Amino acid sequence: MNLLQATNISHKFDYELFHDISLELNEGESIAIIGLSGSGKSTLLHILSSLLKPDDGKVSLFGEDIASMSSKRLASIKRDELGLVFQQHYLFRGFTAKENLEVSAMLAKESIDDDLLHRLNIYETKEQKVTELSGGQQQRVSIARVLTKKPRILFVDEPTGNLDNITSNEVKKIFFQYISKHNAGMILVTHNEEFAMDCDKVYRLEDKELKKIK
Ligand SMILES: Nc1ncnc2c1ncn2[C@@H]1O[C@H](COP(=O)(O)OP(=O)(O)OP(=O)(O)O)[C@@H](O)[C@H]1O
Ligand SMILES: [Mg+2]
Repeated sequence: MNLLQATNISHKFDYELFHDISLELNEGESIAIIGLSGSGKSTLLHILSSLLKPDDGKVSLFGEDIASMSSKRLASIKRDELGLVFQQHYLFRGFTAKENLEVSAMLAKESIDDDLLHRLNIYETKEQKVTELSGGQQQRVSIARVLTKKPRILFVDEPTGNLDNITSNEVKKIFFQYISKHNAGMILVTHNEEFAMDCDKVYRLEDKELKKIK
């Protein structure tokens, strides 16, 4: 089944970032987007995940064009089906790590997976306020929070940016296992070449275009 279809996406802020980008994500599939800092990768991910409206082109989720969805329909897809792990971690600042996970679990009617917390090495720190955690620990809490709600599509921006090699590898494994277990899809933006090349398809955002390199 097709999870996401982007057709001829173009966008500019002060200058044109990219044009005519098309992309398709299917069940069980992972796609990596690499490219220089400032090339527009995060912006593209914001567009694909419905947070930003492109100047031109169309994005469909589960076969429905985002632009013609009712705001209620889009909100329900965002809540139930999309998992966003972004460069800034959208955690509730005054809460502990565990409370952040509980909110997500409650909204999605799922339960917290302690095994996942052990694997991400955040089980021991779960009672601490997120503001007291290191950057890498916050990053792993936000990964756990997103996976707790069991989304169909993961949009993941530089998830291993703050992490050492051993932890990065574990995070990579967790994402790939999640995709195959839940028949989900992932669009990953990263500077981590090894993680990128392990994805099913790899694109480079360069000269305002998306070039397929795998
Ligand atoms: N909301 C915005 N308003 C104006 N310009 C923006 C906005 N968001 C991004 N830009 C500009 O668009 C360009 C691309 O930014 P973007 O964050 O998409 O790059 P990136 O490829 O993700 O970079 P990095 O690898 O450093 O994360 C930058 O020059 C940035 O300043
Ligand atoms: Mg970015």
